[in-house]
Amino acid sequence: MLDQAKIILGVTGSIAAYKAVYLLRLLKKAGADVRVVTTASVDEFVGELTFSSLSGHSVFSGLWEEEWSQHVELGTWADLMVVAPATAHTLAKFAHGLCDNALTAVYLAARCPVMVAPAMDVDMFLHPRTAANLQQLSQDGVEVLPSGTGFLASGLEGPGRLLEPEEIFAHIQQRLLDRPLRGKKVLITAGPTREAIDPVRFLSNHSSGKMGYALAEVAAQLGAEVVLVSGPTSLSTPSQVQKVKVVSAQEMYEAVHECVDRMDIVIMAAAVSDYTPEEVATEKMKKKEGDMAIALKRTKDILKSVGKIKKPDQTLVGFAMETQNELENAKNKLVSKNLDFVVLNSLRDPGAGFGHETNKVSILDRQGGIAQFPLKPKKEVAKDIFQKIVAGIERQSG
Ligand code: CTP
Repeated sequence: MLDQAKIILGVTGSIAAYKAVYLLRLLKKAGADVRVVTTASVDEFVGELTFSSLSGHSVFSGLWEEEWSQHVELGTWADLMVVAPATAHTLAKFAHGLCDNALTAVYLAARCPVMVAPAMDVDMFLHPRTAANLQQLSQDGVEVLPSGTGFLASGLEGPGRLLEPEEIFAHIQQRLLDRPLRGKKVLITAGPTREAIDPVRFLSNHSSGKMGYALAEVAAQLGAEVVLVSGPTSLSTPSQVQKVKVVSAQEMYEAVHECVDRMDIVIMAAAVSDYTPEEVATEKMKKKEGDMAIALKRTKDILKSVGKIKKPDQTLVGFAMETQNELENAKNKLVSKNLDFVVLNSLRDPGAGFGHETNKVSILDRQGGIAQFPLKPKKEVAKDIFQKIVAGIERQSG
């Protein structure tokens, strides 16, 4: 069942558009709320009235007909956008970010995951341009469904056929049911902070941001609405993630407190500088004879400050990177910062921590539980962390 799932069904001008009518019926019968967006040529195959009657909503087909911002509203409203059938032309526009009709505008505005079901003739499907466009879409985080193989409307035979409505429906169901964080808002901090000494120098650390970015990517895949507050890194923003760029610990503190109240889950994976220069020189500091010292003052402990205002239905997770008395220090952090979980990584473990692609963690919970995991890629570690969080939320809600 897809109770209350909010789905955008994009339909493009293909002979297979009639299958979208069946798909719409399956989605509605399963309890989904569906809004249909069409391209101009769909009218040649299936009338708008069919889609509006079956969906119970007017069809969005012309950018200039309704409220000018309807594409943005739809893009932020949906849990999933499915384009079936997706023609070679629309797929090419998606892959290149073109925006010349209602459907392409909704695609660019969509914050939800997007699934496309290609439909075209065999030679169009096998053309290297189409293959490159589909590859680009996969890279952009779009789920490209396989095409069916068989007789095509042209009389030719081969791949390019639209999957049957029941098969597309099964993919949609799978995608939505695999998303235990649907409707949840997740805030993640990542990367290092930089504390300015003068206009050309700063204090920082070796954090690459990889662990925090892996958490953001997995959270979005699990259906959450994700805000990633990130210090300077060279990583690209995972798809469906809203990134807020910060530099200093103070900026990170402000960005976190600006939105933490609305969040369900907060994970602080950033390596925040504990100290910042007492004064920042406005001009580049010139070297002088002899040594020098820079006076440092404490930054705000962001995690602790969130722990103080945490609401009972919020889950708060911190990281602890220790070099000695690991478990004891981590347990202390759990209590002193009012956390639900603390993820401990030890710098003693080879392959774990700063800069590595892998991490080896233990997850401690408030009930005294300690789960120890082997060395794994950071994305797999992120999945383990969310598995614990989801189990904790399910336990709490009975
Ligand atoms: N953290 C934070 N704000 C700070 C310092 C740390 O939010 N100013 C968060 C980190 O993101 C991490 C956790 O606190 O989730 C633990 O950071 P860590 O530096 O290991 O621990 P500290 O509490 O700073 O203690 P210590 O320096 O004694 O290890």
